[in-house]
Amino acid sequence: MTGSAASRSLLPLPRSVAAGQGTVALHDGSRMHVAPQLRPAARAWARDAAEAHGVDLVLTDEVDAPVVLEIDPVLPAGGYTLTTRRTGTRVRIGAGDLAGAFAAVQTLRQLAGPDGFRRGPVRNAGRIELPVIQVEDAPRFAWRGILLDVARHFLPKADVLRFIDLAAAHHLNVLHLHLTDDQGWRVEIDAFPRLTEVGSWRPTTQVGSWRFPNLDGRPHGGFYTKDDLREIVAYARARGVEVMPEIDVPGHVEAAIAAYPELGVSKKPHQVRTTWGISTQVLDPSEASLDFFRTVVDELVEVFDGPWFGIGGDEVPPHLWLDAPHVVAQAEALGLGSVAELHGWFLGRLAEHVLARGRRPVVWDEGVTEHLPQQAIVTSWRGFAAGVRATQAGHDVVMAPEQVVYLDHRASEREDEPVPVGFARTLEDVYAFEPLPDDVLARTGPVGPGRVLGVQACLWSEYLHDARRRDYAAFPRLAAFAEVAWSPATDRSLGSAAQDEFRARLVDAHLPRLAAAGVEHRPLDGPLPWQQLPGLPGWPIDLAATLAAAGPEGHVGGWHEGNEHGDAGLAAAPADGTPE
Ligand code: ACM
Repeated sequence: MTGSAASRSLLPLPRSVAAGQGTVALHDGSRMHVAPQLRPAARAWARDAAEAHGVDLVLTDEVDAPVVLEIDPVLPAGGYTLTTRRTGTRVRIGAGDLAGAFAAVQTLRQLAGPDGFRRGPVRNAGRIELPVIQVEDAPRFAWRGILLDVARHFLPKADVLRFIDLAAAHHLNVLHLHLTDDQGWRVEIDAFPRLTEVGSWRPTTQVGSWRFPNLDGRPHGGFYTKDDLREIVAYARARGVEVMPEIDVPGHVEAAIAAYPELGVSKKPHQVRTTWGISTQVLDPSEASLDFFRTVVDELVEVFDGPWFGIGGDEVPPHLWLDAPHVVAQAEALGLGSVAELHGWFLGRLAEHVLARGRRPVVWDEGVTEHLPQQAIVTSWRGFAAGVRATQAGHDVVMAPEQVVYLDHRASEREDEPVPVGFARTLEDVYAFEPLPDDVLARTGPVGPGRVLGVQACLWSEYLHDARRRDYAAFPRLAAFAEVAWSPATDRSLGSAAQDEFRARLVDAHLPRLAAAGVEHRPLDGPLPWQQLPGLPGWPIDLAATLAAAGPEGHVGGWHEGNEHGDAGLAAAPADGTPE
């Protein structure tokens, strides 16, 4: 690839690229001098270079080696410079920190052409050819997340590791692992073995939209051992990605209640849920339930040693609480203004426990109440305003609005989209994602004192039953999201020049990389015949109508609104239920 072609190929787009003339070659055995704290990034590149190009890069103490990775203290966090030359040091990376070096080596991988994404050399083995080029780069957002829902459909460990590789290749740096839900509990807990014995599988599964009663009649299950998860954490960190686990409470807990019925309000035997939609079967918000989940947290902070720990908090219909005298009495004894307030109270207590274990709790935006500790991070999924409001309440926030970045929603208006559920979110819609739109700020007022840490896309898996379906839903829309997360802010609205340029770069340079990596992405003109799922009913939702009905805060999701994740049928539920 020439320098000028290379300068038009990188994705996400760097801050600046200057193309030179000609190319630079590295050979098997090329020496590499690496600052000690950048070693993990050098190792990541060396691994890819060995596999894809048959080139072993060999560490050396010589500072004038052909490849140099050094710290450049003037660069911002996550930033790097990358210079290739035909003489002397051929490849020089200056990195602000390890994160910057990880991004730099991914850029190098892209510069080597699509073959850099293969797992064995197919031509020119023993040689890496790079364009003469100078790149200066740094991330727009510190938190560039992707959620994998491994609860609704289990994703085998090998597929999780592969997905981490793909996330890292797009400069994404947080993997939000949604480990538990109504339909499955996916993590081994020593104190409570029935969570996996009972909660990790179901005898049958709904196929198609939850609004239709089709079951496949086949058992589905799976879970990760603690060592599997330690491996996932280490594998991700070795590629510049931090794993954020999520144990979702006090809603989305039917699998846990199936394993331990005493966690439920009724205490009666229960089944792992086999259908989608929002469940009214939430936790008994008792001290005993709190202690149970404190133990779960205690076991998992030994596995997930990163800075954050997700405890959920989304979609908690209070129906059962309102009918249970002991729960009503608890709300009264606590002096809460309503029974529904037990949601925030429960989450707040568990968040305090997470803090006591040295982690920052992460909750969905429904979890913002006076009970939530200030240090908790909030993921804004029901639109944009909830996130801005959370910053105003002092919380740091990650923007993940369902109406733009839920990549499980259908990718076009076509009827042959596989399980055409939810809002139609095209590649262009995702590329146009602006995390802090002016019209929202005009309504809410400015951000702060909490900060917007970044953005996150979500791959919920009700309709993504295996890795191939996840590939289809994620790509190439995740590439568009990654550019929003990483590259400088610019006008990416529909019809903008940036949209045209992105599409050309995607088609010419990035789709060939994804193909080389074996990603079965959605073709831009629609699904291939074998990517369609004829006969599985969807439930398309009109975004404009949903937004029009959403009210002044523009919330598009949640149990009381009704969307693809919600259930409009629950809207008949009682209001807050003030205790007598
Ligand atoms: C969510 O989509 N219920 C966070």
